[in-house]
Amino acid sequence: MDQSRARHVAIIMDGNGRWAKKRGLPRAVGHQRGVEAVRRLVRSLEGTGLECLTLYAFSSENWKRSEDEVDDLMNLMRRFIKSDLPEFIANNVKLKIIGDWQSLAPDIVAMLEDALAQTANGKQTLAVALNYGGQHEIARAATKAAALGEVTIGTIAAQLDTADLPPLDLLIRTSGEIRLSNFLLWQAAYAEMLFVDTLWPDFEPAHLSQALDDFARRERRYGGR
Ligand code: IPE
Ligand code: IPE
Ligand code: MG
Repeated sequence: MDQSRARHVAIIMDGNGRWAKKRGLPRAVGHQRGVEAVRRLVRSLEGTGLECLTLYAFSSENWKRSEDEVDDLMNLMRRFIKSDLPEFIANNVKLKIIGDWQSLAPDIVAMLEDALAQTANGKQTLAVALNYGGQHEIARAATKAAALGEVTIGTIAAQLDTADLPPLDLLIRTSGEIRLSNFLLWQAAYAEMLFVDTLWPDFEPAHLSQALDDFARRERRYGGR
């Protein structure tokens, strides 16, 4: 396999609020424009050759935001699934959700279950992290591994939400923040990292292609020589 080609990229989509603030607009508008950036990226997925794109949409800590902002984000999620599901199906995008998504509002859970079923035969995976926290994911996986009788790196990895995805190659965060904010902690062990200043609503498919070119030039050593 061509080692320079990424199979799995994950993005911490950050900066919607600052994008809106710069323009004197409500944060909700930033989130709406953020959804449009997601749509553009998903439309460009086929050309990237990626097997999986994982997007951090809502963290287990994002509940700390105001009720209004959380409602806006949940409503955007409802609208996005409704409007874009036919496109996912037409473009062979296979939806996957990671995180504690089953504890979201029952109507969202039902919508997601339907979307998962309808895209099950898709070729490229779009994994969306919803109510996701890396520490919680690891704790859940370790608990399941223990219940099955053996706690090892392998048995924990097999219980992670990402167990059926290719290894994480590249983790991108937008908006200039240089932290993981509890995203894919386990999976990031040997992933390449890229932090860009672009605010999420300004993120274009060309930024992802640039990131993939950058990734292709990196030398991964995994501790060996
Ligand atoms: C990312 O943008 C979207 C979510 C976390 C849901 P933010 O809302 O975090 O934007 P900033 O960081 O305040 O600019
Ligand atoms: C991380 O961004 C979560 C998502 C992008 C969904 P945050 O904006 O919530 O992270 P912090 O609070 O700046 O670390
Ligand atoms: Mg943020």
